[in-house]
Formats: sequence, C-alpha cells, structure tokens
Amino acid sequence: MTTTDPPPLIPTLGGNWYVDDRVFAAEQERIFERMWFCAVRSGDLADPGRFRRVRVGRESVLIVRGRDGELRAFLNICRHRGAMLCTEDEGEVRRTLRCPYHAWTYGLDGKLVAAPNLGALRTASGEAIDRVAYGLVPVALREWLGYAWVCLAAEPPSFEGDVVSAVTARLGDPTVIGTYGIEGLAVGHRVVYSVAANWKLIVENFMECYHCATIHPELTDVLPEFAHGLAAQMFVGHGAEFGTDIAGFTIDGAAGFDPLPGIRAEQDRRYYAITIRPQVFVNLVPDHVIIHRMYPLAVDRTVVECDWLYTEDVVDREQDVSRSAELFHRVNQQDFAACERTQPTMSSRAYRDGGVLVPAEHHIAEFHEWVSHRLEEVG
Ligand code: FES
Ligand SMILES: [Fe+2]
Repeated sequence: MTTTDPPPLIPTLGGNWYVDDRVFAAEQERIFERMWFCAVRSGDLADPGRFRRVRVGRESVLIVRGRDGELRAFLNICRHRGAMLCTEDEGEVRRTLRCPYHAWTYGLDGKLVAAPNLGALRTASGEAIDRVAYGLVPVALREWLGYAWVCLAAEPPSFEGDVVSAVTARLGDPTVIGTYGIEGLAVGHRVVYSVAANWKLIVENFMECYHCATIHPELTDVLPEFAHGLAAQMFVGHGAEFGTDIAGFTIDGAAGFDPLPGIRAEQDRRYYAITIRPQVFVNLVPDHVIIHRMYPLAVDRTVVECDWLYTEDVVDREQDVSRSAELFHRVNQQDFAACERTQPTMSSRAYRDGGVLVPAEHHIAEFHEWVSHRLEEVG
C-alpha cells in the first residue's frame, strides 16, 4: 500500500452483538447502569409532586420534583417488601408517594413519613424505625442542558469528564454549547419513537452520513455537503453549512425563526451533531436544538424520545413549528427504518463475522472498541 492508497475497509462487530441477550445484559450492567443517563427534561417536572418513571439499565427510576423545588431520583421500589411504588410513567402527587400494597408512604425527599403502625415498629435491635434509612434508595442526579441526568453507580464517574467533555471534544471550544442557551429553551415538539432495533445500530447510524445521500433527500437539500464530499461527512462536528439557496433548517428550506440570541456569527447557517455516550444525540441549528434520548428496553427494542427545543417566545406565542420539526422527524423516520431493516438480519449466518466500515465510517470503529472495552471490564 502506498501513502496515496485510500484507507482499507475495517471490520464491524459481529452480528451476535446486536441479537444476543447476554450481550445486552452486559451492556445494561456495564454501560447504562454505570454511566450518566439523560433521563427527563427538567421542565417536564416543573411543579412540586410531578414525577416521571424511566427505565435505566434493568432498574426503574423515579424522578420527582420536591416541595423545595429540587429534582431528586430514587429507585422506584418500596422498602417494605419491594412493590413497585409508581406504576404510571408520569403523573403528579400532592405531598407524598404512597405504596399501593401496604401503604408505606414516602415524602418527595424520599424519607419514610408514614406506614400503618409505624410508631410501634422496631428494628431487630429494638430501635424505632429510622425514616431515612428506610426511605427510598437515592440515585445520583445532575441537571445540565435543561435535562436531569441520573447515574446508578455507587460512585458516579465525573460528569464533566464523561458528558460535558463529549460535547467539548466535538465542538472544539467549551464555550460554544452555552451560546445556544439550551437549558432556557422550551419543548416545542416531541415525538416518541419505538424502534425495533438494537441501540448500537441507532448510534452507528447517527455517527455516519455515508447513508445521507441514499435515504435523506430533504436533509441533503438543506445540507448539500452531506450528499457529497467524504471529508464533510466525517467532520460534521465542524458544522455542515446550509446550501446557498436555503433560508432555514426546515422541511422545504424556507425561513425558520430568528437565530437563538446567544449564538455567534460563525454558528449561523450551520448544523452540528454530537453524540454523548451512551444514549444522547444533540443537534444544533441556528434557531432550534433537537435532542434525542434513547431508552434501550431489549436487545432488539429501543425507545427514542426526541425533543425539538425553541425559545420560550416561539413556544409561548404558539408559533408554527411544524415545517421546522418536520425536517428532522422525516430524518428520524428514515434512519429508524434503516435500523429496523438491519436488525432482523443481524442473526443471519451471512453476518456472523460482521460487515465492513468504509473510510467515511471509520470513526465508528472507535465506538465498537469502546463498547467492547466496557464489556471486558471486570464487573
Ligand atoms: S410493599 Fe410497599 S407497603 Fe408493603
Ligand atoms: Fe441518517
């Protein structure tokens, strides 16, 4: 091979990585239950008593706004005999969370506040019940970009090192993400997709644009460099530029809204895509931000919740976001259809040893190495 030869093909993971329940169980334990997991939009739980239940790895996690205004996360398990405390995905309680089985009742701070005959109950050593020790099991929670991120690890990894640095590495400058003011934006549109595909297929799809020219006609109309030019496809983090005749990031290229107030001139008319491992995609365009959160439910099933975020002014005045939201909704449908077309064949003997990555996809190999490495770590 000479230095002018194109880089060679690189092998992918074998098909069993996408269909084997044991692989998925290991990923739940060693990836989703150990890393920071973007769980809910903080603004969805604006009022005290509002809660949301999410699945993180194998656990059910409850996120609730306290009367003091704080968001907290707990394992959704009653400390008495283990009944699931909340069986609804979201809702609102007044002051307490009450187990429907024997009525042990917890404050929004997780403390045990009532139970039948609580005052008469004693521990094995004869002491009164400690209401904190018998309270809900807390889960670490951090708020960033207007989302509550939770971590089930007893000693969570550095949030800055794992989450913030993924964004900085992609955008180059740590101050850029702040210019979008994402924590202050409002949800103008949300779609929840139930995708019959392994979560890694969705990550890999998001990481490359080799497929863009084939399946994303509307997106490549807006971002022509996604249709040609390998370098542009590989470095989308540097910001793909809108086509010259494109006024905004909308389904037909018509004008969108005013640019977000903080962004700089060089960020205008550009699209940036960022993957935050293991389950978040951030898409930045001048007038809105699109955030995907994945909830891997089974080896072949992933729920993706996608938020389109706009200024409060756009959302409060009920401006029409449909043309703007339709573009990425179309992209999502096209991407998820491709993933669903790939999932059933992962168990074929033809894919036992996997496929190949072309040069425009070579960076996916690093994702594969990362997953393999996480699964090799001794539990
Ligand atoms: S299991 Fe919850 S009160 Fe008994
Ligand atoms: Fe795509």
